[in-house]
Amino acid sequence: MAKVKSKWVCQNCGYESAGYLGKCPQCSSWASFVEEVEASGQNKSAQEFLNTEKPALLKDIEIDDKVRIKTEISELDRVLGGGFIQGSLVLLAGDPGIGKSTITLQTCGRICDTGKKVLYVSAEESAQQIKLRAERLRIKSEKLYIYPQTNLENIKKQIDEIKPDFVVVDSIQAVYSNNVESSAGSVSQIRECCNILMHIAKAKGITTVVIGHVTKEGNIAGPKILEHMVDTVIYFEGDKYKSFRILRSIKNRFGNTSEVGIFEMCESGLRCVNNPNELFLNERSQITSPGSAIIVTNEGTRPLLVEIQALVGSSPYPSPRRVANGLDTSRLLQILAVLEKRVGLNLSKQDVYVNVTGGIDVDEPSADLGIAMAIATCARDVVVDTSTVIIGEIGLSGEIHPVNNIEKRLNEAAALGFKKAIVPYVTNSDYTNKKLEIVPVKRLMDAIMACVSKA
Ligand SMILES: Nc1ncnc2c1ncn2[C@@H]1O[C@H](COP(=O)(O)OP(=O)(O)OP(=O)(O)O)[C@@H](O)[C@H]1O
Ligand SMILES: [Mg+2]
Ligand SMILES: [Zn+2]
Repeated sequence: MAKVKSKWVCQNCGYESAGYLGKCPQCSSWASFVEEVEASGQNKSAQEFLNTEKPALLKDIEIDDKVRIKTEISELDRVLGGGFIQGSLVLLAGDPGIGKSTITLQTCGRICDTGKKVLYVSAEESAQQIKLRAERLRIKSEKLYIYPQTNLENIKKQIDEIKPDFVVVDSIQAVYSNNVESSAGSVSQIRECCNILMHIAKAKGITTVVIGHVTKEGNIAGPKILEHMVDTVIYFEGDKYKSFRILRSIKNRFGNTSEVGIFEMCESGLRCVNNPNELFLNERSQITSPGSAIIVTNEGTRPLLVEIQALVGSSPYPSPRRVANGLDTSRLLQILAVLEKRVGLNLSKQDVYVNVTGGIDVDEPSADLGIAMAIATCARDVVVDTSTVIIGEIGLSGEIHPVNNIEKRLNEAAALGFKKAIVPYVTNSDYTNKKLEIVPVKRLMDAIMACVSKA
């Protein structure tokens, strides 16, 4: 009989200890330790499938044809770097209800249509529930197997039998292995299940997608622990109450991680948004009001035009409120400080609210100038011309710093019909864009003058 040993595992970060600890030495969380039992001898290394007889010379190593499986879902292929690599293990993580099952089921449908065999393991929903979703998404694939199952040994048996090309496990927190005695979703279980799936994927060349949930704090054990075990990690994010969804790769052993995919959630599933700018700018109200400015951020290789809205008003509180939606509050505080000190805009008795429309997050410094313009124009009750885009990073002394990829941003703005761009002044450089009236500015004050003079 296998010897049974127990250990205490931090459910937050996976730190292991022989006894109970009140506070985790690794991640400092309190009361996060749970006793987990496992049969000894089962705890093999995750990378065991790599073991070869002896070392080989680099020049002699043959590359097996790692074919990419294209999903034909353009935004997903873009994030993956051109499709799934055969035999890779991909983690798709996201908040509950964001659309993880939807996008994977759609992907399964597309991959089936190319003549491949697909197994969708559902550890959370019944076959009928998935059938209902498939009907809504209009998936009629013939070679798509649906398998409601939570036991990993059973799943393995079916993979051996069906020999699929593509497997989805929805979700990793809901499956369990007989090798580990703790409950499904615990750190030991998640690790063991991921190990087994990794073995299957690598040994048989089956592309595998595992779904993982994250909470709002983003600190649930599952996905964080899995991140270093899998080949690729993609996060599905967005505002549940708005229809945009953003797919972002955090780690990719076979491609770059700067690309994002943008989707819209519709009745019939997730729709690729190939021209996100039309969508984001559509939300802009046609009637312009003070406190609105259009910026050009750079998401991956694609510039995005986004509207920043600010509201400034006298505060009923002794310490006025500063609220930032879609951008970092400390960034907002810094911009306000520069506006007060370098431009002389007195905001000390004013509440300031700043909002990025479209439900996306802007964390690029190039948005600074647009944010400052939205605030300044609102405070002075003037309007920024609606055909103007604003690009630039603000330094602490009120100077405007250059930003990367400026030409690409300007081209996108011109393509969308904008007429004028306020940009950082750069020595010895001509802006080559001929379709836009370019206004280079050195200081924050110059930018304000450029915005306000026409109003
Ligand atoms: N009839 C519908 N029309 C439009 N959107 C729908 C419809 N039904 C569901 N949705 C969208 O799909 C989302 C749920 O998608 P899905 O089940 O794929 O999410 P999930 O990330 O797998 O969730 P879970 O964490 O529960 O597994 C809902 O939040 C909603 O936005
Ligand atoms: Mg789901
Ligand atoms: Zn910990």
